Amino acid sequence: MTSFPAALGLSSEQTEEVVRLAGLAPSLHNSQPWRFRLASDAIELHSDPQRRLPAADPDDRELRLACGAALLNLRLALEHVGVRPVVTLLPRFAGSTALAEVRDGGRATQAPGEQELYRAIPKRRSNRRPFRETQVPTKHRHALAAAVQREQCWLHVMERSELGVLERLVRHAHRVQMADPRFRDQLARWTGRPPGTVEGVPAAAAGPLPEPQDQWVLRDFSGGQARARVPGKDFEYEPLLVVVCSHHDSRLDDLYAGQAMQRMWLTATVRGLALSLLSQVVEVTDTRDELSRLLGSTWYPQAVARIGYGWPTPVTPRRDVRDLLISD
Ligand SMILES: Cc1cc2nc3c(=O)[nH]c(=O)nc-3n(C[C@H](O)[C@H](O)[C@H](O)COP(=O)(O)O)c2cc1C
Repeated sequence: MTSFPAALGLSSEQTEEVVRLAGLAPSLHNSQPWRFRLASDAIELHSDPQRRLPAADPDDRELRLACGAALLNLRLALEHVGVRPVVTLLPRFAGSTALAEVRDGGRATQAPGEQELYRAIPKRRSNRRPFRETQVPTKHRHALAAAVQREQCWLHVMERSELGVLERLVRHAHRVQMADPRFRDQLARWTGRPPGTVEGVPAAAAGPLPEPQDQWVLRDFSGGQARARVPGKDFEYEPLLVVVCSHHDSRLDDLYAGQAMQRMWLTATVRGLALSLLSQVVEVTDTRDELSRLLGSTWYPQAVARIGYGWPTPVTPRRDVRDLLISD
């Protein structure tokens, strides 16, 4: 096998590792919609148009969130090997799929907090199972909000008084999506995958079969294969629900929000917290607009997350790192 191409003055092995870690980012239905072009002086991050999910994400907003998350991993991984990443978002001359270009800004020494986030990259998971009835302490809430702000976004922590409206919006969005045959078809194709799959959501990573009384986890990711839950193992009554918001609603903001979401998710992982996303409410235009109004119309909701104390959940596999490269 030929050696992995090298970039930014790194060895071939180091370059392979930073691209592999970028590819451990979360993505809608584990579609992994990213590609990387490696050059001696830059790593370019591109979207992969073959991996679009038009029924759920017609404008590619969530595709860009996922690529933003991959970019945060890439930044942390580069700093870890001593490269200070200098990022240009939406670079003009790298082609229509280019989302970011990362160059070498000199020697970096990774701060201890960033090293913790780096080490959390392979430990982060989507946890769709019930969480414990334990409140997330205020200090952790503050750390999650600070993580999001550090990436130029805003975290709205849902208040108890807002949960009724959010629940109504989530249910409405779920009904709208499940009434659309294109959406159902896409969900069925990308979820409930057998063991050994390298893309899409394996049945093992789905939570229990959603039941009518469940408030927040409504999508069945098991392709109908999940077993009904053990009696008494219901979803938590009051999870922490948060909304990652951007200042505007442009392609650039989606990339900021993806990095913010991932910094929050890694921060949660470092602090022993589990997280799953509830995206239906921000995928359906009407409910996203209503959620924005609920938040005061000053922010654009990008990702809604449920956070708490969970039990271990299996890893969702990824494609081979060589399959992520653009070869010219
Ligand atoms: C933009 C975006 C939206 C997502 N929406 C949902 C969702 O609505 N429900 C869910 O359970 N997981 C959702 N996910 C999580 C993905 O399914 C998950 O990242 C992927 O299967 C890989 O698994 P991992 O996060 O455990 O690595 C979303 C991820 C991203 C990036």
